[in-house]
Amino acid sequence: MPEPQWHTVATTAELPAGGRKLVSIEGKSIGLFNVHGEIVAVLDVCPHELAPVCRGRVSGTTLPSAPGEYCWGREGEILACPWHGWEFDLTTGRCLVDEKLRLRRYPVEVVGDEVRVAL
Ligand code: FES
Repeated sequence: MPEPQWHTVATTAELPAGGRKLVSIEGKSIGLFNVHGEIVAVLDVCPHELAPVCRGRVSGTTLPSAPGEYCWGREGEILACPWHGWEFDLTTGRCLVDEKLRLRRYPVEVVGDEVRVAL
């Protein structure tokens, strides 16, 4: 298997807490998100019907709770697809409504003030 190729695609100043940046690497559109200080990189393609998922809203989601209760949490960790609203956990890539579906994630490293992504 070939070694992953690292690409410098942003600076840390461009991705403050809660920040987002869309970049193109080797012809792929990739979204970078700062999720509580950790930068994650995901392919800008929704596994449902291929929408540009990285343009969706980032917020929280409803948490398991007792009947009649409404519990909101995980603010800043959940990406909602702009087409049909399916929610994805940015920290794992997992789809919240279908465990078999995931966002394609890429390794990220921060070196000095540079953000690098490996393809
Ligand atoms: S294309 Fe993303 S939820 Fe349908």
